[in-house]
Amino acid sequence: MAHRLAGKVALITGAAQGIGKACAEIFVKEGAFVFVTDINDDLGKTTALAIGSQAQYFHLDVENKSDWDAVMQQVIKEKKHLDILINNAGITGFQDGFGLQDPENASLDSWRKVHAVNSDGVFLGCQKAIQHMKESKGSIVNISSRSGMVGIPGAASYAASKAAVRNHTKSVALYCCEKGYDIRCNSIHPAAILTPMWEPMLGSEAEREEKLAMIAKDIPMHRLGTPEDVAYAALFLACDESKYITGIELTVDGGILAGSSASPKKDVD
Ligand SMILES: NC(=O)c1ccc[n+]([C@@H]2O[C@H](COP(=O)([O-])OP(=O)(O)OC[C@H]3O[C@@H](n4cnc5c(N)ncnc54)[C@H](O)[C@@H]3O)[C@@H](O)[C@H]2O)c1
Repeated sequence: MAHRLAGKVALITGAAQGIGKACAEIFVKEGAFVFVTDINDDLGKTTALAIGSQAQYFHLDVENKSDWDAVMQQVIKEKKHLDILINNAGITGFQDGFGLQDPENASLDSWRKVHAVNSDGVFLGCQKAIQHMKESKGSIVNISSRSGMVGIPGAASYAASKAAVRNHTKSVALYCCEKGYDIRCNSIHPAAILTPMWEPMLGSEAEREEKLAMIAKDIPMHRLGTPEDVAYAALFLACDESKYITGIELTVDGGILAGSSASPKKDVD
């Protein structure tokens, strides 16, 4: 069977681990050359090296415009074009030092930091990709979240920043159509995907299994997802099989957003 990304050049942000890493691995298997980018240089280099000669690591802090300028310059210098951008890098706000993340107590600094990575980063990535893809064609995939579609009281900055990603995706998609650019832009909304992002929330080894079982109980499919589950959705949106699809939101969440599992009462239709 032909490779689904044969000859394509992709750039993935936050690709040292988790979902971004799974995208990089699967995209290379499907024939792409992948620029693995991250702020964790040691891990990013290790990841790219393990993937092989079809992957190369660059440092890219997504909130930093000059990093984007430098990386895109390198990409174009080395490969002449970019076909796929996966805006994947993201932070939850549950890292050490961020403090409470509810709407009453979250600090303005932590709100701004979460938005700088999750939403400024996606804005900058989309802008750069449009500038470089408009003469050819391309696919931008923004990794939003289930949290971009519903309120999350304990992670208000994260949820608002991911809602910005969800909406900006549609502006980019429509803008490119208006301008006659052959660039598609879609968002993916994962939930409960077991990656290193979860570790600060799972606690010590003793609590870990118990917490994971509790999370799984609330998921309609009764299990957490894997990074590969998201990567295969990204693969579909990145490749030409989805060439008539732009501005959509694709959930990868074991059914969480399908609705409530609370049964209606007998006397309610
Ligand atoms: N894991 C989930 O359940 C889940 C659910 C919904 C959405 N998401 C989203 O998926 C994406 C990937 O999440 P993950 O679970 O793989 O997370 P992860 O924490 O395992 O990986 C995120 C990567 O992003 C990198 N990163 C952090 N700040 C960065 C910055 N400023 N610039 C560049 N890279 C940076 C980290 O170094 C890390 O390698 C994120 O946008 C996240 O919000 C994840």
